[in-house]
Amino acid sequence: MFHHHTLPLMRSVQLVLITAAVMAAVAIAGADKATMDRGAKVYKGYCSTCHQANGQGLSTIYPPLAKSDWLKNTPKEKVIEAVVYGLKGPITVNGKKYNGVMNPLPSNYKDEDIAAVITYVYNSWGNPGTVVTVADVQKVKAARGKKK
Ligand code: HEC
Repeated sequence: MFHHHTLPLMRSVQLVLITAAVMAAVAIAGADKATMDRGAKVYKGYCSTCHQANGQGLSTIYPPLAKSDWLKNTPKEKVIEAVVYGLKGPITVNGKKYNGVMNPLPSNYKDEDIAAVITYVYNSWGNPGTVVTVADVQKVKAARGKKK
């Protein structure tokens, strides 16, 4: 059905398709290492003061991020908003009530830091493994800008 000289071409097309499929699967499977490393740095340098080293939270003041059902049941746009613009008022996390204030993230943190730290939290401590991109962060900021 094919001429002999077209076979090598078919093979390389096949190889390219397989490579693309594998890369797509890896991208879907989770966060890349560079993002996780960057996120871990931001987490240790900032978030861990309150939420603690392994996201376990602290007493009735700082809610846990580890296996947080709030994190699991909240759309990622709202999670981004909470981290960037702060969160206050009553919330329930894993059956415990909190009514505190999380301040907005200091503005020296770049969109890359925000995407990385939320991705890091989502991919640590039994959380659902969602990936947050810089584009996701910028979309939330743009939407928020329009509301004002
Ligand atoms: C100065 C303390 C403080 C820091 C720093 C802080 N948070 Fe929070 N965070 C809080 C408090 C307090 C609440 C609960 C707010 C409320 O009661 O409405 C909260 C709530 C949350 C929630 C929702 C509830 C939950 O446990 O799932 C998430 C998600 C969250 N923080 C993520 C982060 C991330 C990511 C960072 C770092 C970029 C961070 N926080 C830094 C104090 C802090």
